[in-house]
Amino acid sequence: MSVPWTIKHKPKTISEMVGSSNGNGKAIQQFIAWMRSWESGVPKKKAALIYGPPGIGKTLLVETFAREHGYDLIELNASDQRSESIIQRVVGAASQQSTLFGTGKRLILLDEIDGITGKEDAGGLFAILKAIKDTRIPIVLIANDAWNPRFAALRSVCEMIEMKRLPTRLIVPYLKKICQKEGIEASDDALKLIAERSAGDVRSAINDLQAAAQGRKKLTKEDVAWLAYRDRQEQIFNVLRLIFTAKTVRGAKMALSLSDVDYNMLFEWIYENVPHQLTDLEDMYRAMEALAKTDLYLKLAKREQAWELLSYAFDLMTGGVALAREKTKPKWVPFKFPERIKLMSKTKEVREVQSRLAQKIKQKCHISSASALRDVVPFLRVIFEENPEHAAGLAKWLRLDLDEIAFLTQNNKLAQEIAELAGVKK
Ligand SMILES: Nc1ncnc2c1ncn2[C@@H]1O[C@H](COP(=O)(O)OP(=O)(O)OP(=O)(O)O)[C@@H](O)[C@H]1O
Ligand SMILES: [Mg+2]
Repeated sequence: MSVPWTIKHKPKTISEMVGSSNGNGKAIQQFIAWMRSWESGVPKKKAALIYGPPGIGKTLLVETFAREHGYDLIELNASDQRSESIIQRVVGAASQQSTLFGTGKRLILLDEIDGITGKEDAGGLFAILKAIKDTRIPIVLIANDAWNPRFAALRSVCEMIEMKRLPTRLIVPYLKKICQKEGIEASDDALKLIAERSAGDVRSAINDLQAAAQGRKKLTKEDVAWLAYRDRQEQIFNVLRLIFTAKTVRGAKMALSLSDVDYNMLFEWIYENVPHQLTDLEDMYRAMEALAKTDLYLKLAKREQAWELLSYAFDLMTGGVALAREKTKPKWVPFKFPERIKLMSKTKEVREVQSRLAQKIKQKCHISSASALRDVVPFLRVIFEENPEHAAGLAKWLRLDLDEIAFLTQNNKLAQEIAELAGVKK
């Protein structure tokens, strides 16, 4: 296993951090100023609460500051047992008895306090509040969501420092620097795609970069194209979850505004998942009925160019499906990838074979290749499955190769047989 790049290329100084001068510059300055205020005695706010989304450098900031300014960092994280007594012991001892932890400057870090939940940890929160009241050295708390009601008391005694997601334009140069150190020549658009997909999360951008680029000399946009697909899938799962759990039509329709997928695609996803999500037969029936009507409206809208009909289709596809749930109990069922899309996009090769075949039919029959696929291929399929001799004759006439014959028989053994009869060389 290789060393994660988030560790290998971790910034050694605050100024190397993404967003230290712009982006999160203000927050970082606020933190440094608050730490400095301890130099002239115990300040009014004896704790700081740094908060913001994952992977943007909250923990990194505190660690790097401590290292740069010669602080001993006494760190408790969410995996520590946060019983009242441990916090009191560590915080109490560290903040009061200077001999126990050496004589240098000290800083207490309570990371990931979001982890404190439920009753058993109420003591933990209480202990933190008490520690803040008693402390004579800086206490830094870190959370993703500082606005949780249970942190209300904490907020009022903390210097509140908000860190934000970082914009793509700041993440790209950082990724580029890592590539240079790794000896990888990366195209700007590849790095841009990685940064965009990370949604401001530097850690995930670095992890994706490592996954895509490690062991290569070059990184192109094609090498990271899968990222776009991964995002889509995650996004569509959220949309589906909203639709299948909504209690009101309005709630379900919200899903559409979140979704940037094509509505035909969304239809396929919902259609595929109804039988798995709504297992009660009557619920399933109601949902399928809504989808049948959706299908009608979608077709009509397209055929008549009557796009105002789409709004009925959307209501049925979201609200209609959401309200179909009466008896099925909500439980977590994984979403399935639509079979129909899987078939359509099965592999590039299949599509290539199909278009080659269409070309050959087009030339012999003087029709369009769309018509060849729509009107001729289904009949060829029947003939190729039922009558090898007749099929061999047609294969010869159309000059089909083995792949094209196999496309029509959908059975490799039969395809071999027909190819032999037709004298097709392998
Ligand atoms: N601003 C940044 N500049 C450079 N690297 C960063 C930055 N933010 C995160 N990283 C990289 O990601 C790793 C994780 O960052 P960090 O632990 O600070 O995230 P965090 O904001 O504390 O996230 P979480 O909320 O999940 O704890 C760092 O070790 C570093 O490699
Ligand atoms: Mg952290």
